[in-house]
Amino acid sequence: MDKSERLRILTALTEHIEEGTTLDAGGIMRAPLSDFTCPQLLAQEQDVYFRKTPLLMGFSSELPEPNTYWADKATGIPILMVRDGENQFRAYANVCRHRGNIVVPEGRGSKDRFSCPFHAWTYGNDGTLLAINQNRQFGNVSRLELPLIELPSAEMYGTLWVRPIPGDPIDEDECLGGLQDDLAYWQIPTHPRTDSYTIDVRANWKLAIDTYGENYHLNILHAQSVGKEVKANLQICDRFGKNLRLVYPNQKFDLMRFLVSDPGRWPYKQITSTLYFIYPNVIMIVDAFGIDLLRIFPGQNSPSDSRTVHTWYIDPKVQPHIEKLGISYEERITRFRDIVVNEDYGAAADIQCNAEAGIQSEILLGRNEEALQYIHNTHRLALGRDLLQIETE
Ligand code: FES
Ligand SMILES: [Fe+2]
Repeated sequence: MDKSERLRILTALTEHIEEGTTLDAGGIMRAPLSDFTCPQLLAQEQDVYFRKTPLLMGFSSELPEPNTYWADKATGIPILMVRDGENQFRAYANVCRHRGNIVVPEGRGSKDRFSCPFHAWTYGNDGTLLAINQNRQFGNVSRLELPLIELPSAEMYGTLWVRPIPGDPIDEDECLGGLQDDLAYWQIPTHPRTDSYTIDVRANWKLAIDTYGENYHLNILHAQSVGKEVKANLQICDRFGKNLRLVYPNQKFDLMRFLVSDPGRWPYKQITSTLYFIYPNVIMIVDAFGIDLLRIFPGQNSPSDSRTVHTWYIDPKVQPHIEKLGISYEERITRFRDIVVNEDYGAAADIQCNAEAGIQSEILLGRNEEALQYIHNTHRLALGRDLLQIETE
């Protein structure tokens, strides 16, 4: 995101403030509530979005140096990610070639070899099976034919991507779709990981995503929390392939307008929140303190359940000040979690209940909810489903 792009965004937001407008998709859309309750659709989604599609897993600081690892099960498939001795990011199915046990329990650390907890077959971080415990008694198999199964992986602009099942190499343009300049601007590799936690909610994973995709609700649902800090129902939206970016101003935006006449001198990051939907399942929010990454997954067996893994990566310039002030990472992250759990996901769970009760058959996506319209149709397109149509007035 170069200076001219930031200036364009700040100018567009200023115009919306002055004219009392926001983004406009040109009309409403109707989305069927069965999208959130249909088990057959969930099976298709699991296959296409969460098996065959490359997923953004986290940032480079998850693997801060050579010979570190991160074992993660959030996708529903156990994945072992490593930074090998040559600093190369690689990913494997975290499945032992002996009897299929998980080789490395969920977590992170420094290690260059991994011993399966079942019978101690040992693998290197290049995937090689280094040793078969008591090989002579076990039988006649060749170590060389039994490496961990490697998964397509890529490290791009400080982001780590994995395709959860073997397949084609990861294509940068297909994943980022033009977000390269934005990612470079945020200097993601410099942001250390602070902490992360998981939220399980009784709501379809797409309903969880929808709660982030508009700021129409900010001064209503979040009236007593974050609603006081940002301007509601005022945002702009830009599309990058299957991804999109929403930007909205916070309350400091007005102060800057009055104090400094040249928007070219405004501190972009201090007066805005920039939120990305990264296809198919990630929300990334950049603000003055750092970057929040929310990876959202469906429940394994039911369209009514979802899981969100939230990780906060702190701005390295902010980190020393936060630590000096004695604000713990946990405190900040707990505040964020409370808003999501009690407010956004409370609404998502209510919608899920109503969808299952069959009281109504569809919901409406407003012309000021352009990002939701785009996300719903991007998901539909990938499954070859009919697209929702805009109803112009
Ligand atoms: S299943 Fe891993 S060593 Fe047996
Ligand atoms: Fe919200």
